[in-house]
Amino acid sequence: MLKAIIIYHTRTGNTKSLAEKIKKRLEYLNIVVEVYQDNNFKALDSLNDFDIISLGSPTHYWQIASDFKEFLKKINGFNLKGKKLIVFATGVSPKSHPKICSDIIKIMKPSGIDTIAKIGCVKEPTDDLDTKIEQVISKDLFQI
Ligand SMILES: Cc1cc2nc3c(=O)[nH]c(=O)nc-3n(C[C@H](O)[C@H](O)[C@H](O)COP(=O)(O)O)c2cc1C
Repeated sequence: MLKAIIIYHTRTGNTKSLAEKIKKRLEYLNIVVEVYQDNNFKALDSLNDFDIISLGSPTHYWQIASDFKEFLKKINGFNLKGKKLIVFATGVSPKSHPKICSDIIKIMKPSGIDTIAKIGCVKEPTDDLDTKIEQVISKDLFQI
């Protein structure tokens, strides 16, 4: 059975809500999912136990939230080749989430992880995002 880990930063809960939607989708695909807020995830070495790693941040001053950026810098040197990355982000401007997703991918590049999906929304995710999540996190990505 495939295992996924979702790690996110949040201040007011929007990115957490998006993390929960991604969790729901992965579980629907029979993937076992663990979810952590960044400062609660201490067992960095255990990242290698997961097939899918999902990382998400709100936008702070057009950047990845600074605590989360520091967290990413701790894990981007790990060898994550062969693992699949799902990135997600929120922000008040519609231009923010695509930028933050790209920034996360850029920081994670040294790990060799393969990006399979980018998901974002303005502020809090609404239910219509579920359809998009279904499309971008599809069964065929995982050969299951
Ligand atoms: C300190 C701070 C800076 C922010 N800067 C931006 C920004 O530059 N661009 C933007 O689109 N949203 C910005 N926002 C809005 C948040 O990115 C947005 O509300 C996000 O959905 C919050 O996610 P969270 O509820 O998971 O903390 C900022 C919010 C805070 C608290």
